[in-house]
Order: sequence, then C-alpha cells, then structure tokens
Amino acid sequence: MGQINIIATSAFGLEACVKREAIKLGFKNIHTFDGRVEFTGNEEDIIKANLWMRCASKILIKIGEFKAVTFDELFEGAKALNWGDWITVDGKFTVTGKCVKSILMSVSDCQAIVKKAVVEKLKSKYNVPWFDETGADYTIQVSILKDIATLTIDTSGSGLHKRGYREIALEAPIKETMAAAMVELSFWNKDRILFDPMCGSGTILIEAAMIARNIAPGINRKFACEDWERIDSKLWKQARVEAYKAIDYNVMPKLYGSDIDGDAISIAIENAEKAGVDDCIQFSVLPLQKAKLMGDYGCLISNPPYGERLGELKQVEDLYKSLGNLMRTNSTWSTYIITSMEYFEKLFGRKADVKRKLFNAQIKVDYYQFYGPRPPKDWGKTE
Ligand SMILES: C[S@@+](CC[C@H](N)C(=O)[O-])C[C@H]1O[C@@H](n2cnc3c(N)ncnc32)[C@H](O)[C@@H]1O
Repeated sequence: MGQINIIATSAFGLEACVKREAIKLGFKNIHTFDGRVEFTGNEEDIIKANLWMRCASKILIKIGEFKAVTFDELFEGAKALNWGDWITVDGKFTVTGKCVKSILMSVSDCQAIVKKAVVEKLKSKYNVPWFDETGADYTIQVSILKDIATLTIDTSGSGLHKRGYREIALEAPIKETMAAAMVELSFWNKDRILFDPMCGSGTILIEAAMIARNIAPGINRKFACEDWERIDSKLWKQARVEAYKAIDYNVMPKLYGSDIDGDAISIAIENAEKAGVDDCIQFSVLPLQKAKLMGDYGCLISNPPYGERLGELKQVEDLYKSLGNLMRTNSTWSTYIITSMEYFEKLFGRKADVKRKLFNAQIKVDYYQFYGPRPPKDWGKTE
C-alpha cells in the first residue's frame, strides 16, 4: 500500500523539538509547518512515533489534501480518498473539524459532509447498506486552512501528554509534552544536577528522569490504533518489548524537586513511583526562599506561578526576585523558566540569553534561558 503520510502535531513553538525527535527516530521526508511536522513511514513508524515522541501532541495519518471552496468539492474530494485502506467494516468513525481563514467556515457542515462522503466510499467498498460502528475508533479530522482541506485519522486517541503516570492533577500542571520540551531545549544532561524548586506534581523532573533512563514516554498507555486491524498486534508487542529492553535503570541522574505545598509533593512522589523513577528524584517540602543550590554546573528548570490570578501578582513578583537572588549564589548554574510575565527578566535581574515564544495551555508564555558556563572537560570525573 506504499508509504504512509504521517503527521506529528505540535504545540506552537515546539515544532523544532518535534522535528529533532523525528530525525532521531529515523523518519524520512521530514517537513515542518506551523503546529505540525510531517514525514513518511510505515505501520511500524506509526507505532514508534506514538511510543517514543516526547514533545509531539498527537500522531495522525494524512489520508488526503485538496482544495475545497464549495461543499460539493469537499464531498467529492473526501469521497475520492481510500478510507477503506484503514477503516474496517465495523469501524466507528467520528469526524471532528476546524476551519481557519477559508471560504468554508461552518465546521459542523464540513464534519457532516465528510462523514457522508466517508460512508458513501465505504458502502461501495464493503457492499453494505449501513454501518453498525461497533468496532475500533477511527477519529477523522477535517481541517480546512486557507481553502485547503486536510483529512486525517487520529492514531493516538488521547493526547500524547497522557503518559499514564499522572492520574491526579494539581491546579496548574504543565503538560508532559511541554515539560519534556523544556528539558530537551536546555543544556541539561544526565551528568548534571537538575533542580525544580517549584516542582508541583513533579512533571519536569519525571520527564527528565525518563529521558535519562531512555524510558519510552508512551510505554504505560494505550493508543487508538492498537485496536486497528491494519496494524498487526504483533508489531505493537514487539515494539513494547524493545522499549522495555531499552530502559537503563542503572542511570542515576541527580534530580531534586521542592515545593511550598506538601500536598503537591505527595502527588509528585506518587507520580514518580508510577513512572518508575522515584529512586532518582529527591523531593522535599520547602519554600523557594529557603532553597540552596547544591554542587556546580547544575540546571534549574521550572514552571513557577505566573501571577495571573487576582491578588497573586505581588507575591509572584517577590518570588521571581528571590529566584534571581538564589541563582546569583552560584554563577556556574543555568536557569530555564517558563512564564507569561512580560517583565520577568527585570525581576530576575538578568537578561535572558535566549527567549523562546511558546503556548502553555493556550497562555502565551516565554521560555527564558540563562546560560551558565560550560562545565570543564574533566568535570564530574573526580566528583
Ligand atoms: C505552576 S505550578 C507548577 C506545576 C508543575 N510544573 C507541575 O508539573 O505540576 C507552580 C508551583 O509553585 C509552587 N510555589 C508557589 N510559591 C512557592 C514558593 N514560595 N516556594 C516554592 N514553591 C512555590 C506552587 O505550590 C505550585 O506547585
């Protein structure tokens, strides 16, 4: 059936991270667009992308793309595609949609038209008058951008940020995909200390531990396409066995997390246990104002409160000033902070070396990166 066009969707600003992951996983014909990275591959690559991509939001299959400025064009274009290559006679197929800067702007009409077109196409393939839709899930998306309709099927099911280790959420947890990207975008590696002094449920530290130990982010969850007939369940089994074999529990990164909130720390410990990394993260209940930097050349990576809630601003401003004071106690450390506060650098007391625009749960934020010096070549060998 030839090569499959695969799309890894991405939060805005993380496309470069997703592209880097696609290259590392050996995917072919990689192209980057706003909010997505496309590549080609086979069924095993779909499994690999779902199991191993840490920063992507979802893995979709692109069934087709065509210009549509009328409902007729949308219907005929959708009907011409080979839906039966994927969707089985008992398949349950719902259609989601979005329309941006296009002549066709009624999302619900576009969804209904695509559904009708897919039904017509499948009727002719399977020679049946109707579909019970009692089988596996095939969520189709019709996405129309500047009059170009892209039709996809979602292979992931729930978003890839759902790793399976964070069942209890705190009030403002960062998405696991974003936390992984914060770590990947930093100069941290398993030989350097990593400290999150406002760690909440521990997501950044847990993601770092999983990176250090080469734990596949999707190893403990299920994906929509695991139930699909076209993707042999043996391939899934094999990929999971290989992923388990790839884990290196001998790697012992030095990871520290603290938070003023004791309940958050209890949740963080529980999450780290579920992720299989509790033995390499030390958590403690501690206000940032009392935190100390241990060792040299460490990285502080954190997602502090943003001061957006009523009455919180002054407290958060003071918190950011305290953070600046803490980091001035050891100039070998690097600091990485995500926040929506536009004058963060002023409060922190230093201009960032790099500032990257991102979106964290629809909030426009910056990822501020303050670099310490590179560790000497022989550093760490004698410690
Ligand atoms: C946005 S949340 C962090 C969420 C975290 N990244 C996660 O994955 O759950 C900010 C955290 O900062 C903590 N915090 C606020 N003030 C603090 C302080 N003075 N010292 C330490 N932690 C503080 C809060 O308790 C909260 O858990």
